[in-house]
Amino acid sequence: MLIDATAWDVLRRHGERLSAQPLSSLAAVQAGAASLRVGPLHASFARQRLDPGAWSALYALADAAGLEPSLRALFEGEEVNATEHRAALHTALRGDTGTGPAARAARAEALAARARMDALHEGLRAGPVTDVVHVGIGGSDLGPRLVVDALREFGEGRFRVHFLSNVDGSAAREVLSGLDPARTAALLVSKSFGTQETLLNGAILRDWLGDDSRLFAITANPARAAQAGIDAARVLPMWDWVGGRFSLWSAVGLVVQLAVGRAHFDALLAGAAAMDAHVRTAAPGANLAVRHGLVSVWNRTALRLGSHAVMPYDDRLALLPAYLQQLLMESLGKSVRIDGSRVPVPTAPVVWGGAGSDVQHSFFQALHQGSEVVALDFIGCIRPAHAYADNHRALLANLFAQAEALANGASAEDPHRRYEGGRPSTMLLLDELTPASLGMLLAMYEHSTFVQSVLWGINAFDQWGVELGKRIASDLLPALAGGTEAADPVTRALLAEVIARR
Ligand code: F6P
Repeated sequence: MLIDATAWDVLRRHGERLSAQPLSSLAAVQAGAASLRVGPLHASFARQRLDPGAWSALYALADAAGLEPSLRALFEGEEVNATEHRAALHTALRGDTGTGPAARAARAEALAARARMDALHEGLRAGPVTDVVHVGIGGSDLGPRLVVDALREFGEGRFRVHFLSNVDGSAAREVLSGLDPARTAALLVSKSFGTQETLLNGAILRDWLGDDSRLFAITANPARAAQAGIDAARVLPMWDWVGGRFSLWSAVGLVVQLAVGRAHFDALLAGAAAMDAHVRTAAPGANLAVRHGLVSVWNRTALRLGSHAVMPYDDRLALLPAYLQQLLMESLGKSVRIDGSRVPVPTAPVVWGGAGSDVQHSFFQALHQGSEVVALDFIGCIRPAHAYADNHRALLANLFAQAEALANGASAEDPHRRYEGGRPSTMLLLDELTPASLGMLLAMYEHSTFVQSVLWGINAFDQWGVELGKRIASDLLPALAGGTEAADPVTRALLAEVIARR
């Protein structure tokens, strides 16, 4: 069900046809019709360079790629991660995902792990611990870090939580300064329990704590945790059927539960499960994640936009672009398809962004008048969590103004004051930011990622591209210690400089 170059050409021709039309006139036609609501989440695709003919072409491609059976395979726990022969059952972490044995078995394991998380939570509450350091990187960091930050108003206040990811020792020094080892617990979170950064930072924590009773591991590799001498009673599970960047909903998210309490963590999972149910049952035209994924494929493949910016107009979602960078770029940053053949069209755009309105005063100039057209997702919350009504009105006014200005542009005699417009964007509005609406939003992006991968025919769940650099880094460790010489001449010269000057 891989889409061949001829089928992609059909989409490309729609792209060329619509590129000749002003986005403002396309948007005016689509205005209300191109929106969808799922619970507390409203999405408008009206400002995308699309019309009914282009949407039909996208649905036809989704059909040709086997999107519906692929979604079924995902939810049922079939081997959607073909290069690693694994399922991707992150949906089982938050609800009943399918009726088959794999999905049910995963759900049972997820519930058993939740019970262990609760026991650990209760144990920590009863003790002297005031601070918890979550040590992990990539998928073992970005999701929990985003959610803890986003749900700051929902904090229970029982524990202060801290995150340590970077192998740069100044990160460890910074996190530990001011903490008391006798009142701190550490969570070492690593699916593989083989990630250099987490092992090094974990060792720092372990030394600093002085005794292991407040050291916990969360891993899919309990054997390695055992080799490191961590008692099985203090190891919580992960599984090979959950990808790292999809693991927030597992015990990887324990730090979220410690920060906001069990009920709010449950609500986060329930919101995600509601999005799963929507994605599983809604027809493609009424399916938010399918439409979002198709728009992304459209912008990258039909319009050839190489950059996708995510702009949350809500300070609490400032870490969303970083989270989505990993979700989208690690999942979709591939050029070969599941059968090993080359994808005949461009895949993953560069994903980046920042929180509005701050970003308007940094890089928005380039979005308005730069030579590259960037596709955007704007995200806003209708009801704020504060009482500063004037500020919130200004925030929303800026949010809508930017989307309008970027799409419609403005003419002027003076070329310096002219705005071409034609910059497409999706608007996502949450009624308010709650654990449930956040869970829905993140699950929507997960499913949109999968939809894109199905259209492009690539495996969303592996990340072989990051392995080579890791291997070279470990080969270079002895050279940095001065024991061997690096094989590459440029690296050799750089190491000589380091060794001479340190
Ligand atoms: O560097 C890539 C990566 O493998 C990610 O996919 C993963 O989320 C991260 O490293 C951390 O991996 P682990 O949870 O195994 O420590």
